[in-house]
Amino acid sequence: MKFKILPLIAFAICLTLFTLSSFAQANFKPEKGLLSTIKKNFKDADAQYKLLAKQIGPEEFPKTYHPNTSKQENSNSGWWCSGFYPGSLLYLYEQNHDQQLLTEANRIMGVLAKEQFNTHTHDLGFMMYCSFGNANIVEPKPEYKQILINSAKSLSTRFNPTVGCIKSWDSKNPSDYLVIIDNMMNLELLFWATKETGDSSYYKIAVTHANTTMKNHYRSDYSSYHVINYDVQTGAVKEKKTAQGFANESAWARGQAWGLYGYTVMYRETRDKKYLDQAQNIAHFILTNPNLPADKIPYWDYNATNIPNALKDASAAAIMASALLELCRYADNNSGQEYFNTAQTILKTLSSPAYKATAGTNGGFILEHSVGHFPAGTEIDVPLTYADYYFIEAMKRYQAFGTKK
Ligand code: GLY
Repeated sequence: MKFKILPLIAFAICLTLFTLSSFAQANFKPEKGLLSTIKKNFKDADAQYKLLAKQIGPEEFPKTYHPNTSKQENSNSGWWCSGFYPGSLLYLYEQNHDQQLLTEANRIMGVLAKEQFNTHTHDLGFMMYCSFGNANIVEPKPEYKQILINSAKSLSTRFNPTVGCIKSWDSKNPSDYLVIIDNMMNLELLFWATKETGDSSYYKIAVTHANTTMKNHYRSDYSSYHVINYDVQTGAVKEKKTAQGFANESAWARGQAWGLYGYTVMYRETRDKKYLDQAQNIAHFILTNPNLPADKIPYWDYNATNIPNALKDASAAAIMASALLELCRYADNNSGQEYFNTAQTILKTLSSPAYKATAGTNGGFILEHSVGHFPAGTEIDVPLTYADYYFIEAMKRYQAFGTKK
C-alpha cells in the first residue's frame, strides 16, 4: 500500500509544480533595439509635452489637434479625458526626472481637483485615477488620498443595485440606464479606495459592475457591444447598441481594448480566474480577428466596411499594448508570449514615423492617427490624449521587463 501511495504523491507534487510553473511569470525578453527606441521616445515625448503645455490656457486641458487646419482643441476639467494630460506628465517625469513636467502636472491637477465631487460622470476613474492615482505613487501626499477617496464616493453614487452597474450616461428618458463598455476602466479607482479605506463597498460595486457587464455586454465570440440600455426599474436589458462604433452588431476597436484592459485589472485586483478567462477570451477575439492588420494597429472598427482602406486607431492599439503587457504576466507561457509579441509589434509600429509625430509638430502630442468618434464626425484621424497616455504606459511596462526577473 505504502509503495503505491508514494509514487502517487510524488506524481501529484510534480503535476502541481508543473501547473504552477506554467502559470508563473514567463521571462519575456525585451528587444535591445526597442528598449533604445523607447528611451528616445521618452526624451522626445518630454520635449513634445513642453510644446503641448504652451497650447493650453490656464484652466484648459489638451484634447486634440487638427493637422489639416493646424487648430488645437482644448477642454475644461469636466471632459472625460482631463486626467490623461497630468497622467502623461507624471509618467514622463518618472522616466526623465524633468522638474518642469512635474511642476506642470501639479499646476494642472490643481485645476482638475474640483472634479472629485462631480457625480454627473462615470469617467472619474479616467479623470482622477490616471492623474491623482499616479501622483500618489510618484509623490504620495495625504491630500491626493482624500481627493481619490472623494472621487470613489462620487463614482459610487452612480451605482444602481437593481441594474448591478454604474451608470455611464444620463438619458432624457428616465427609464433608461445606459452603460458603456468603457466604464470597465473606472473600476481600478474603486479597488484602490477599498484598499485605502477598508470599506469593502467600493470593491463590491466594482465586482458587481464587472459581472453584469460580462453577462450583458459580451457576445458569444467575446466581442463586446458598446452600449447596453437597462430598464432602471427591473434591471432588464432593453437595448444592445453602439454609439461610437460602426454598427450595433459591430466590434468597435477601442471598446474591445477597454474591455481587455478592464478585465485584466479585474483579475489583478481579485485573482478570480473567471476574469482572467474573460480577458484571454477578449484577447483571442482581437488577436485572431481576420481584420487585425499585421502591424497590429486595428482599424477603428473591426467591422468597418471599407477595410483595408478604413482608418486605423492608434489609441485602441496603445490601450491593447498596455493591457497585453500586463495580461502576459498572468497567462500560461504560450499565450503570454503571444501577448508580449503583439504588444512589442504595436510599440514598434507606434514608434515608427507612420504614427510617431515629428518633433515640434502635431500640436505637441506624441502620436498621430487616432479616431475619437467616427459616427459623430469628430476627432477623426487626429492625436488624442489617451493614445499618448497608454502609449507611454505601455512603453513603461515593456521597459520593466528589461529590469525585472
Ligand atoms: N468614450 C470614451 C472613448 O471614446 O473611448
